[in-house]
Formats: sequence, structure tokens, C-alpha cells
Amino acid sequence: MDKLKLLEERIREDGLVLSGDVLKVNQFLNHQIDPDLMYALGQEFVRLYKEESITKILTVESSGIAPAIMTGLIMHVPVVFAKKQKSATLDGGLYTAKVYSYTKKVENTISVDEKFLNANDNVLIIDDFLANGQAVNGLLDICELAKAQVIGVGIAIEKSFQTGAELIKKRGVRLESLARISSFEGEKVHFAGDAEND
Ligand code: G4P
Repeated sequence: MDKLKLLEERIREDGLVLSGDVLKVNQFLNHQIDPDLMYALGQEFVRLYKEESITKILTVESSGIAPAIMTGLIMHVPVVFAKKQKSATLDGGLYTAKVYSYTKKVENTISVDEKFLNANDNVLIIDDFLANGQAVNGLLDICELAKAQVIGVGIAIEKSFQTGAELIKKRGVRLESLARISSFEGEKVHFAGDAEND
């Protein structure tokens, strides 16, 4: 099966639509992880960005790590994840950005050690979900601080009815999302481009 369809099918099978336009995908992405599916997502990101010479994958803990690491594995480049908690082992200089979560109504500071990102890097940002785009926006801020070049963003599941995609495009950054949800209707998930099939 085509890789994009594979993810859509899995969302239809195992995704649970919760109140507040939240999709629960604990079966394969946010709690239990399906490595074969994550690998397929990695292959797709690699295919989409094959013309680019990427030196680093950047994500944010925790659920972005699975698709990010598969992408890094296939590209043979390091994967850096921004940390959400202050860590005792993060002692040196840090790039930090503030990330407001609309879902959780809290502001987090995310950070990356200066050692792991610099002006020579061509970065591909990967994350599991794109909702309001605050996490990706923070990662873009961190790349700016590091003077690293952002090649693009790769998202597993985009909720296209929220503001994140627009925000990223406004910043002039290429965005590739593997599954694009246009709406929820009760328990049903509608994907962008499949209106005629539903
Ligand atoms: P944003 O980064 O796009 O602005 O997302 P938002 O503030 O709206 O959401 C905060 C957290 O909730 C993020 O994860 C985001 O990935 C996740 N999220 C947003 N919409 C959904 C959804 O419909 N379903 C699920 N399962 N998650 C959603 P996080 O707090 O960084 O969590 P984690 O990566 O540690 O799991």
C-alpha cells in the first residue's frame, strides 16, 4: 500500500476522536509505537526531501522522536530532540524557545544544547502532530538562534483546520505532512482530498 494511505488507514482503524478535536493515536504513535509504520513514515520523508542535503533531524520530545529517528536512520544523519524539562546534564550553552500549548494551556521552554546545532547544519524538522504549530515554531526559533538553515518540516499527522500549517508557510518554510485531516465528524475522520470517497 502507498505509504500515505498506510497512515490514513491506520488512523481510520485505530484512531479515536476525542472531544476538543483531539485524535488519540495511542495504538501506534503516542504511547505504543508501531516501528514498521514509523519506518514507512521515515522512508516517505526521505523520498520527499531526497534532493536536499540534510545534515540533521530536529524534533521535540517525546512523540516526535519515533518518526524522527527512523528518518535519521535512513538518511544516516544525527537526530536531535529539544528537551522540555531542565536537565541536570544540560550544563553548557543552550538555545531556548518558548512554546505555548493550546491543548494543555501551559507554556514550556524547549531547549537544545548549542553543541548539537550550528550554522553548518541543514535541518529537517520532524514531528508527530501539527495542530497550532507552536512546537514547530519554537524549533524554527531555535534553528534561527543557531543560524542553522531549515530545509523543511515533515509532519506525520496535520490537523489542517488548525493554524499550524499556515504559520509554517508564513515563515517561508516548506511543509510536508503525510496525513492531512480536514475535519472530524463525530467519530469519523475526514482527510484532505478524500471528500469524494466518504
Ligand atoms: P502545536 O504544537 O501544533 O501548537 O500543538 P498544541 O499546542 O495544540 O498541542 C500540544 C501537544 O498536543 C503536542 O504534543 C501536540 O503534538 C499534541 N497534539 C495536538 N493535537 C493533537 C491531537 O489531535 N492528537 C494528539 N494525540 N496529540 C495532539 P506534546 O505536548 O508535545 O506531547 P508529546 O509529544 O510529549 O506526546
